[in-house]
Amino acid sequence: MKEKHILLIISGGIAAVKIPDLIRRLIAQGSRVTPVLTQSSAKFVTPLSIAALARSKVYTELFDLTEEAQMGHIELSRAADLILVAPATAQIIAKMAHGMADDLATTLLLATDTPVMIAPSMNVRMWQHPATQRNLKQLQQDEVQLIDPNDGEMACGEYGPGRMAEVDEILAQVAGFFRNGPLEGRHVLVTSGPTHEPIDPVRYIANRSSGAQGAALAEALRDLGARVSFVTGPASVPPPTGVDVHPVQTAQDMLAAVEGLLPVDAAVFAAAVADWRIAGAHDQKIKKRSSGDLPVLQFAENPDILARVSAHDLRPQLVVGFAAETKNVINNATAKRLRKGCDWIVANDVGPETGIMGGTHNKVTVIDAVGAETWDEMPKIGVARQLALRIADALT
Ligand code: CTP
Repeated sequence: MKEKHILLIISGGIAAVKIPDLIRRLIAQGSRVTPVLTQSSAKFVTPLSIAALARSKVYTELFDLTEEAQMGHIELSRAADLILVAPATAQIIAKMAHGMADDLATTLLLATDTPVMIAPSMNVRMWQHPATQRNLKQLQQDEVQLIDPNDGEMACGEYGPGRMAEVDEILAQVAGFFRNGPLEGRHVLVTSGPTHEPIDPVRYIANRSSGAQGAALAEALRDLGARVSFVTGPASVPPPTGVDVHPVQTAQDMLAAVEGLLPVDAAVFAAAVADWRIAGAHDQKIKKRSSGDLPVLQFAENPDILARVSAHDLRPQLVVGFAAETKNVINNATAKRLRKGCDWIVANDVGPETGIMGGTHNKVTVIDAVGAETWDEMPKIGVARQLALRIADALT
């Protein structure tokens, strides 16, 4: 982050009290920070203390004529390498989504093509409100990067998602943004986790995937500078920060999310997708019958997302699948690569005795058109880093 110029827009939420710490740490890492306060944020932090920490003038008013003469608002936002909105209130998110420009902060945001990152902070109900979710979707379409809020106790006493990410998490995502690794400028899609296929509103079919290997991959790709779109089923490990997360439940949802993200430069399919769903899942909970009759479930085949993307008009330059096998690992995986039409397949033995599925380590064989290479057993993040480097080599 050394010598990077960050225009920091502080909007008016209680989380603004965390911003002095954020500024201190950005400055310590060598960034230049130009703070912009909205009128309401000046109620939570004082312009004087922010100016002292940032060692910079603090901008607050749109119509500061003297300042406009020296440096118009357009220059102010164009001079930055990144615009960070933290905290981003529901209000500023709504204005951004609609292209409104009625104060300095929103005018700067509209008058720039500098990349923008937002760290939302709001009450759980405001976060979950369809209007906020709609606005966030719009911002993601506009390529604004989201620093996900956390679940937690709110200043208002409620509990749930909406609490601004911790300063450490914001710094990690900003660092990921500036990392100019070999995948800088590349967009990589990763699928991860299990899928849940409903039987009725309360029951579903699932599998033992924790999503750990997919999350590690997304993290390793991010660290090499890639923009990562992470499509994840209900996993038991959280997604990494600094990636665009697209949560899904079923295989059909996952296919729609993946197709909606194409084109990308590379796609890695680490999800353990359910091969079958229940045909005609029940709308109401299936009740026990006094006669003792057992319910009969009919299966229907799910779409094969990897095979679809491999044959897609918008096929990525590199398509990587995983093969979860319990016997004849290499032979089965080699046949799977050809059947699904992907470039590489990463085979692993998921038999219960290996402890791989749901575990911390992995032992894989990477199979491509040339041959097969087996890697030593290592932590999943190690497999992820090695695979991310191989992907970077293939794309350059
Ligand atoms: N996959 C997918 N969509 C599916 C099933 C699998 O995208 N409906 C992807 C997985 O993400 C993985 C690869 O295909 O990258 C292989 O998954 P795997 O479960 O090993 O293979 P299956 O196709 O399920 O074949 P089988 O169950 O016969 O081993």
